[in-house]
Amino acid sequence: MKLEKMISIYEGSLILVNAHYPWEADCKDLVPVSARVPSCRLKTEAKDMLCRLLGAIDGKEEIIPVSGWRSYTEQTEIWDSSIADNGMEFTRKYVALPGCSEHQTGLAIDLALISEHVDFIRPDFPHEGVCEAFRRTMNDFGFVERYPEGKEAITGIAYEPWHFRYVGIPHAAVMTDHGWTLEEYVDRLRNYPLSGDGLRAGCCGREYRISFLEETELSALSGLRHQNNISISGNNVDGFIVTEQVAL
Ligand code: DAL
Ligand code: ZN
Repeated sequence: MKLEKMISIYEGSLILVNAHYPWEADCKDLVPVSARVPSCRLKTEAKDMLCRLLGAIDGKEEIIPVSGWRSYTEQTEIWDSSIADNGMEFTRKYVALPGCSEHQTGLAIDLALISEHVDFIRPDFPHEGVCEAFRRTMNDFGFVERYPEGKEAITGIAYEPWHFRYVGIPHAAVMTDHGWTLEEYVDRLRNYPLSGDGLRAGCCGREYRISFLEETELSALSGLRHQNNISISGNNVDGFIVTEQVAL
């Protein structure tokens, strides 16, 4: 099989999906996040890390999944019903255009603190208790708060303290340490070509080298993709992010 068919810029935990970069690939490999809410699904790796994170903070009883993977059709229904119920201004702030929602990738999840009434579009995930423990711990399990306050002009979405995105280790920690959104991170990584020293990052006692490769240089990945200390993700824009765990 050709290398282009096996490694795609449209796949991987670092794909950037927003109004400028829609995502049209098929989402495979979806599994329920919990037996309690079987309709809420994520990609296996994101689900496994979320479950480990909730276990680590003893949050499985109090934090509930509200919305995980959405099909294009479901995102369209949410968009249409929100316009009918809440109007266009609200909808553009809190609902991504169909085709441009990272919920369609199976890498994003909305979470709520358990309560009798959970708002589907803006669930309550307060800055205290188990929810704050989730935020303090999430980077070690590869999750970030995807739509931070103050970055609305960059993400194109209002502050959403309930929406979390799996980007993987060590990227979640790097993004948080620098205060970068995924838009900014994907952009900054272009400064670290695979041929150079890369961006060095430490997370969970391990050391990593992160670098960028343009899509047109795909052949440089052929020798790397079978090394088990290396992972490769597309960025859904123009290339690949190569993450190498380096020996200490
Ligand atoms: N609420 C996020 C932006 C979405 O609809 O994907
Ligand atoms: Zn969301």
